[in-house]
Amino acid sequence: MPRSVLSPSVHDALAALPAYSRDAAVYDVRTRAFETYRRHLVDLLPIEPGDVVLDVGCGTGLCFALLQERVGRGGTVVGVDLSPDMLDVAAKRVAEQGWDNVVLIEAAVEDVDLPDGTDHALFCAVHDVLQSSEALDNVVEHVRAGGSVAAGGGKWAPVWAVALNAGVLALHAPYVRDFTGFERPWAHLADRVPGLDVREVAMGAGYLAAGRVQVSRRER
Ligand SMILES: C[S@@+](CC[C@H](N)C(=O)[O-])C[C@H]1O[C@@H](n2cnc3c(N)ncnc32)[C@H](O)[C@@H]1O
Repeated sequence: MPRSVLSPSVHDALAALPAYSRDAAVYDVRTRAFETYRRHLVDLLPIEPGDVVLDVGCGTGLCFALLQERVGRGGTVVGVDLSPDMLDVAAKRVAEQGWDNVVLIEAAVEDVDLPDGTDHALFCAVHDVLQSSEALDNVVEHVRAGGSVAAGGGKWAPVWAVALNAGVLALHAPYVRDFTGFERPWAHLADRVPGLDVREVAMGAGYLAAGRVQVSRRER
């Protein structure tokens, strides 16, 4: 598995989120309840057999099986994550399943070297990444024209369901470094993917968003 060296600032950021280090082994159990949304999210990507899909902030690889169903043996799943502990769990999953078409990269999405002409990019439960202009620019610039992106996760519930927000906070606090933008987590992605279609789910405490990259930034 190719792995890059992490900068000290990234290590510091990770240390602030023990859910990605000492608790990585229990991440799957804690987040199992969201499997249905995970499937809905992956279904928003018009993946064809043989495609290359980037799983941005892939964590323990909970989306890999759903992506494998769609890309087939001839496709490729590229999982990028900056947490070595989350990636260790992902690597075990890949080995157990015998998937030889998954590439795991330990790096910050902001400065990872990505394959040009990627067909699709998936952002599942990666609020911090969606708030990072550098990360979004790097990903969107590597998706081919006509390729697709999909993003989904938690958000603050709207005013009519505001009572949900104590639960929303408790649920997401272990996994979110900064709640800035949590009312519209997809906003910066929408700036880069015109026409991004957004649907709120879970009484407004979650969202699913998808769209097509019109012109690859590399082709401009
Ligand atoms: C809540 S987990 C989601 C994991 C996976 N996508 C899922 O659906 O279960 C968020 C992941 O994003 C990773 N992450 C956060 N910021 C990142 C960044 N800037 N670059 C790479 N990975 C990042 C964390 O290490 C963590 O594994």
